[in-house]
Amino acid sequence: MMFLLSGKIAVITGGGSGIGLATVKRFAKAGAKVVIGDITDQTQLAEEIGGLYIQTDVSKEEEVKFLMDKAADTFGQIDLVFNNAGVSGMKGRVTENPVSNYKRAFEINSMGILHGMKHAAGHMVRGGAIINTASMLGLRGDVNSSPYVSSKFSVVGLTVTAALELASKNIRVNCICPGKIATPMVNWETDAQRQATKLIIPLGRYGTPEEVASLVHYLCTDEAAYITGQAISIDGALSMGLSVEAYEQLLLNVNEKPIPQSNC
Ligand SMILES: NC(=O)c1ccc[n+]([C@@H]2O[C@H](COP(=O)([O-])OP(=O)(O)OC[C@H]3O[C@@H](n4cnc5c(N)ncnc54)[C@H](O)[C@@H]3O)[C@@H](O)[C@H]2O)c1
Repeated sequence: MMFLLSGKIAVITGGGSGIGLATVKRFAKAGAKVVIGDITDQTQLAEEIGGLYIQTDVSKEEEVKFLMDKAADTFGQIDLVFNNAGVSGMKGRVTENPVSNYKRAFEINSMGILHGMKHAAGHMVRGGAIINTASMLGLRGDVNSSPYVSSKFSVVGLTVTAALELASKNIRVNCICPGKIATPMVNWETDAQRQATKLIIPLGRYGTPEEVASLVHYLCTDEAAYITGQAISIDGALSMGLSVEAYEQLLLNVNEKPIPQSNC
């Protein structure tokens, strides 16, 4: 495998499922010592990869501090952090969505990231890389999803600011903005919804957790040594516009006049 991580100590939150799980496996294969923080028990996974599992709720600052302190005490320091744990749902219009939904989204998706950066940075004595999981919905809106969207916009803000502040310590901070990725997080979708979503994605399919893990891996290596403070999309161009098929079905069919041949 390219991009060996031998000798690196990595902490991954939300490592028990989906994108986090794919990254745990990839990092372990690349030679990193991986510490998994998750609310669900990942003792067996940690044993399988020769790593460590610490039960962690990222919304609780003292638990994230314990996770980072324990990782550094056990392995000497921390080099790589993937602040990835997150929740979705909390659906509803801005005018109707209960405040409790925003609190839940912010406590896990935003504060979880803040806690991770705050308590890892002091242990990253050799420098290193922090990757935060934002979302395509950290860069644009989505109907019925304002708790999630606003919590993920905040991840981008935390990331770019931390990148400025930690640059002198040679700690790079980036966030990733996945589009639709086939993980348990999107299991609630019906087949019809999934078909409709695939139709609008220019690449015509959902991304895989392994594809996202591959981006996280790259950002953690010296090959990405000059990349910091960025929000990097991995979404099959979904954030860029509609697929040709969706464009033709949704827009061309209702156009009675031919499209003007103009470049402007
Ligand atoms: N799947 C997608 O389409 C998609 C798109 C954009 C962004 N994301 C983001 O990617 C990240 C990973 O999502 P996924 O799709 O792999 O979802 P997933 O549900 O498969 O995995 C989420 C993991 O986070 C853990 N977790 C949840 N709350 C936690 C908490 N409070 N403390 C610690 N761990 C907690 C869960 O136990 C689980 O292991 C999330 O931040 C999510 O918002 C996902």
